[in-house]
Order: sequence, then structure tokens, then C-alpha cells
Amino acid sequence: MARGFFISFEGGEGVGKTTQIKRLADFLRDAGHDVVETREPGGSPGAEAVRHVLLSGAAEALGAKLEAILFAAARSDHVETVIRPAVEAGKIVLTDRFMDSSRVYQGVTGGLAPDFMTALERTTVNGMVPDLTFMLDIEPEEGLRRAAARRAEGEAADRFEKEQVAIHRKRREAFLEIARNEPDRCIVVDASADAEAIAAEIRSRVMDALPGGAKTTPRKAPAK
Ligand code: TYD
Repeated sequence: MARGFFISFEGGEGVGKTTQIKRLADFLRDAGHDVVETREPGGSPGAEAVRHVLLSGAAEALGAKLEAILFAAARSDHVETVIRPAVEAGKIVLTDRFMDSSRVYQGVTGGLAPDFMTALERTTVNGMVPDLTFMLDIEPEEGLRRAAARRAEGEAADRFEKEQVAIHRKRREAFLEIARNEPDRCIVVDASADAEAIAAEIRSRVMDALPGGAKTTPRKAPAK
């Protein structure tokens, strides 16, 4: 069976990755593809156990380096038990976050040494670099507004929130820099557009990139 295809979705918090993965998965399944939806940290039983340690905050006090190694341990398990077997079986794998999240959150805003991060990435990814990465991009202020709107209304930005904006801006820049450095893999998508417009752009980019995809799967919308 022919090798499948591996797509990652990256970006800051609340940019709509989950919604877009769901839409793309539905589209690809309708077109007859075998699709695996997964996420990080997690995606495999071993990695989901580590996810709990990471997201509960239990690892935070132990330092950025230990956290980065835990993210890497989770990723290694996810790659070897879920992603690689699926891609080798000819499936299309869609993951909510992958190696670029570690580069950005641990490497850039976590302040870890580039050499350390590169070595960690090489061993954990172990050749399983995504064929395509969608960077969902939004103004940090807009992202925070969306996130805030979901929580409480009418709350003024305090010092903590301003600090958060600066961190979000740094992360956004870091994702965009990865995309500039790896234009063959990364596609930046304007995440402030409406969800259907974003989904249409993603569908079209995936159909262009899938080996034989445009031939075997008719486009739903006519080309402009
Ligand atoms: P999650 O609850 O899955 O939310 P979302 O992906 O929608 O933001 O949280 C995952 C968090 O883990 C998120 O804040 C980013 C962070 N993260 C890292 O710091 N490094 C990583 O390598 C990964 C995969 C995630």
C-alpha cells in the first residue's frame, strides 16, 4: 500500500485548530480517505498519561527542561505507536499540534537552548516530519479577545494580561518564522477569516499537496 500523508495544525491558543481538523477530516472521509485525527500532548495511551502530568501543571515547578523532555517522551510514543503505523498503512493523519509547538513554547518562550531543542526533536520525531503544516495565525489581541469572551465579559486588561499579550506575540512571531524558514512544509492561514473560508482554503491546499489527490478526489467547489 502507498504511504499515506501526515498533516499538523499549529498556532496559538484558541485559533480554531480543532474545528478545522474536524472539517478537513469529514471532507477527506467523504472523499473516501482513511483519516486518523489525533492531538498532542497525547494521542496514544502512553502520551495521554504524560499529558495529564504536563497540563495539570505538576511538571511546571520542575523546570522548562524537564517539561520539554516530557513533551518529547509523549511525542516519541505518539509517533511510534500511532502516527508512523497509520502513515505506513496509507492513512491520512491529522494532528492538533506537533513538533513546532515544542520549538515555540519550550524553545522560544521557554528559553531552552537551540542545540538542546534540535537534538530532542531529531530523536523524538525520528524522521516523521509532517508533509504539510498549517499555521493558523491570528493577531494575539484578537486571540485573547476571543478567549476572554468565552470566559468573562467586560474585564479590563491587567498587568498579567499584558504580559500574556507579549508572550502570545512572541509565539506568533516564532510560528511565522518557522513558516518562513520551511515554506515547502508550512502554510500560514489567516485564522481571523470565517471558519468556512478557512476550511475551504485548507481543503484546496491539501488537495494540491496529496499525492494523486486531485486526480482521485473531485473538488467540491469549482476552482476560482
Ligand atoms: P490543549 O489543552 O491541548 O490546548 P490547545 O492545543 O487548544 O491550545 O493544550 C496544549 C498546551 O500544551 C498548549 O498550551 C500548548 C502546549 N504545548 C507545548 O507547550 N509544547 C508542545 O510540544 C505541545 C504539543 C503543546
